[in-house]
This record gives sequence, structure tokens and C-alpha cells, in this order.
Amino acid sequence: MKSRTVAACRAALLMVLTPVFFTTAWAEDTTLPRGEFASIFPKAANFVEKTAELTPEQVASIEAEIETKLRPEDLKPTFHIAFGEDGKPVGLVLLLTAEGPNGAISGGVGLDMTGKVVKVEVHKHSEAAGIADETFLKQFSGKGVEDRFKVGEDIEPVVGAQAASRAVALMPKKTLAISYALFLKRPDTPEEDVAETYEPEDLKEVMMMMKDEYDLIRAYFQSGKNSDKEAALKAAKQLEKYTKFIADFEPPKNPNDTEGYTYFRKKFDDAIREFAQHLETEGISKTTQKQWREIVELVNTTHLRFSVEEIDLDEDLN
Ligand code: HEM
Repeated sequence: MKSRTVAACRAALLMVLTPVFFTTAWAEDTTLPRGEFASIFPKAANFVEKTAELTPEQVASIEAEIETKLRPEDLKPTFHIAFGEDGKPVGLVLLLTAEGPNGAISGGVGLDMTGKVVKVEVHKHSEAAGIADETFLKQFSGKGVEDRFKVGEDIEPVVGAQAASRAVALMPKKTLAISYALFLKRPDTPEEDVAETYEPEDLKEVMMMMKDEYDLIRAYFQSGKNSDKEAALKAAKQLEKYTKFIADFEPPKNPNDTEGYTYFRKKFDDAIREFAQHLETEGISKTTQKQWREIVELVNTTHLRFSVEEIDLDEDLN
């Protein structure tokens, strides 16, 4: 039996941004060392590489937004998601190429979690030196999807390099358009609870969501910090909501044991509800510690009975 690597679930934290994320076909993750994009996110602990594939509809809407065609390599963008020391995503970097008057201009764009440009970098080009200069590039920092990125309007070009400046300005605009098409929320969309609109495709997807919440609670018990309590409490309430999706899917092991499956799901639902109530008033107490231990035991028993694959919920601690 293969032991599942659940470390990848961490990256699924980004999923909470919007339900649109769920329709994105992400390829396997690769974890990169912290130094990789340190010039853009110096405080990141590590980066996770995620590749998505744009649907024809997404391509059409992005091209309409950026008023030009995407390049073939843009259709399968690879995001480098930056994670802080606390394991939470702090932003992303997209490497891209634009066509300048003297050939390809390659660079990278960093966005924070609110969809604002952190930094634009130009790595290789055959244009005037000024297009890779801080003076020109810092104009992009802090801009977002509502900005035009139009040379001569909100962007001052490098003197004598109007077309190359336009090509560079397209990089952050394109990064924003692609990121919003895939998973960032438009600023004018009202805040909504992911669990309310969530339509999981399979049980594994539900479990990935639950694992993210589980990790937040675990982090609170480990740190004991009051500042982590709110996140843990919210996570416990989210777990309660996600439990209802479990019933929509048959387990891969013992699928005929519907009675047992319902029993464990209900037991988990009751236990997590009670735990959330105590957590709210008591924080970390003997009771909540005991309740949490019992919940973990219950989940482990459930997994042994209904999952073909061995699941070690704390594997990413090793
Ligand atoms: C805090 C609660 C829980 C967490 C953090 C959790 C986490 C996980 C993880 C990480 C996986 C592996 C997913 C993968 O292969 O990609 C998994 C699989 C699974 N879990 Fe859970 N789980 C929880 C509660 C439950 C409950 C309450 C049930 C059922 C009553 C359940 C049933 C299953 C089953 C059947 C699988 C196998 C899915 C498959 O291979 O298709 N889990 N879970």
C-alpha cells in the first residue's frame, strides 16, 4: 500500500480564494527552494510550482482584456506560489516573455494575495537598458486589475523605447488577467463563503480542503498562540461545512458499507461541531485538547476503513 504524500495539500490553501479555482486543471506540484524568487518575495520560506491549463473560454476573455493574443506558452502558465514561514501563501510569481521590437523580452511578475503587483523584473532583452531599470519598473508595483497599464497614460515609457516599454507593460497586465481568469477574485465581487458555492468533483478534492482546515487547527495547538485561535475556529466551522459533501461520494474501499460510512461521517460532524463550540469559549483547554485527539483518532479509523491508500495526516511534519 502506498503512503499518500499530503504535503501537497498545503498548496491547496490557495483554493480558498475562489470556487473558480476548482475548475482549474492543476498539474503536479514541485516545491522549490526559497532562493528561487527571493528578489521578488524575499520573505518567502519556499515556493510551490503549479501549472494550469487555460480553457478556450478563459483564453478568449484574457485576450479581450489584454487586447492582444496570448503566446503559445501562456496557455499553460506555471505559477510559482510563494509561502511564508507560517505555511500560508503570500503571493505568486509568473515568468513570461513579451515580444519587443528587437526580439523576446523575458521577465517575471510577482503578485500578492490581494492581486496587487509586488514587482516586475526584466531578465533578458535586446532593447534600451532602461526597460530593465528600477526607475521604469517600479511604476508597476502596487497596481492591480483595475489599472490600465497603458504607456503614455498610467505608465511613463523609457525615453526612446516606447514599443519596448509597451511590451514590458503587457507582462503585469497579462499576469493579472491570467491569475484572475484562473483563481483570483475580482474586487467588485462580494465576499462569499467558498463552502456555500463549492461543487467538489470528487472525494479527494473535499479531503484536500479538509486537510487545509485541519492544518490550521493543528498549527494553533502547536503554537498555542492566541493570534492563531481565530483561524483555527474558522477552520473548525469550515470542517463542519465540508463534512456534508462527504455523503455525495462513495468511498473507494468498502463502498457497500454505507451504514458504517454514514456512522463515521455523522460522528465526525457531531464531534467537530462540539469541538468548535468549546474552542470558541475555551481556546486550548484540557477539554478541547482531548476532543481534538479523539477527532484525529476518529479520522484515522475512518481512513483505515474507507481509503485504499494509507493516509498520514501529519506526514508533512516529517
Ligand atoms: C479533519 C478531517 C479529515 C481530514 C483532514 C482528511 C484528510 C484526508 C486526506 C489528506 C486524504 C487523502 C486525499 C488524497 O488522496 O489526495 C483523505 C482521503 C479520504 N478520506 Fe479523509 N479526511 C478527514 C475526514 C474524513 C472523514 C470524516 C471521512 C469519512 C467519513 C473521510 C473519508 C476519506 C476517504 C474515503 C478517503 C479516500 C478518498 C479516495 O482515495 O478517493 N475523511 N482524507
